[in-house]
Amino acid sequence: MAQKDFITIRSYSAAEIRHLIDLALDIKANPVKYSDILRGKALAMIFEKPSLRTRVTFDVGIHQLGGFSIYLSPAEINLGKRESVADVARNLERMVQGIMARTFSHKVVEELGSHAHVPVINGLTDYNHPCQAMADYLTLLEVKKKLSGIKLAYVGDGNNVAVSLIHGAARLGVHLAVATPPGYEPNPEVVAWARAHGVETGCTIDLTQDPSEAVHEADAVYTDVWTSMGQEAESALRLRIFRPYQVDEELFSKARPDAVFMHCLPAHRGEEATDAVIESPRSVVFQQAENRLHAQKAIMAALMGQR
Ligand code: CP
Ligand code: NVA
Repeated sequence: MAQKDFITIRSYSAAEIRHLIDLALDIKANPVKYSDILRGKALAMIFEKPSLRTRVTFDVGIHQLGGFSIYLSPAEINLGKRESVADVARNLERMVQGIMARTFSHKVVEELGSHAHVPVINGLTDYNHPCQAMADYLTLLEVKKKLSGIKLAYVGDGNNVAVSLIHGAARLGVHLAVATPPGYEPNPEVVAWARAHGVETGCTIDLTQDPSEAVHEADAVYTDVWTSMGQEAESALRLRIFRPYQVDEELFSKARPDAVFMHCLPAHRGEEATDAVIESPRSVVFQQAENRLHAQKAIMAALMGQR
């Protein structure tokens, strides 16, 4: 990989993203083949927000590649307050071979990347969630057997998860239809970028306020929480605004009969999706969660082990 960091899918070419997905598939099928490739290497995991999947999959993933992790809680380093972000990066680069960070501000992850000579991997910011989208497209490839030309409908908040799905759609030739309430559309600069750079892969990005229109003929229906971490003060307002965007059985039935249901988790059952949809036989939410492990092992292998 030419890149040092994995901070956004968009800074990787279509071929590089495809290589990472193929590597993830191989790692998933042949884990023993990769069990020693990061022997003795340390991954610092910086968390400014809570996590189940990101923490466990990076921790287990680095162990399964022969390395080990160090968990740094929000209180531990108090990024930017106890010590500047640049100084944290310049310390850690002398001690560990990789840094994973989940931060509020995207600028913090970028700053870590620009000051540390070791790879920095984005574990979610207010802007995007690239490891999640890599696991999601790996999952879609497994269940749909292809990515180019499939239709993915994203219903709900045009948030960090939506941004990474858009970046990935452009690189992988996916038709993405996004339904949000007015004022909650995904970042317009990201949509414009994907429309310009997705031409060569055949990607299209359609924005609508009508969930039924977005899910029509979709191969997969994706939703995420209405209130992301850090937006808790808005949650009462968001509950009202997003109510018509709930993925229930009726909305899900408007997608293709073989459509799968996707969610990055954690889910707020009864809000953005009903129990019936989350528990449906066509729900792949736990396959997505497992694929975080394989996708991130591929990213760590590529950046920390030159695979
Ligand atoms: N999907 C996801 O990133 O989950 P966590 O917040 O639990 O890490
Ligand atoms: N959009 C959610 C994703 C959680 C994995 C959040 O940022 O809280």
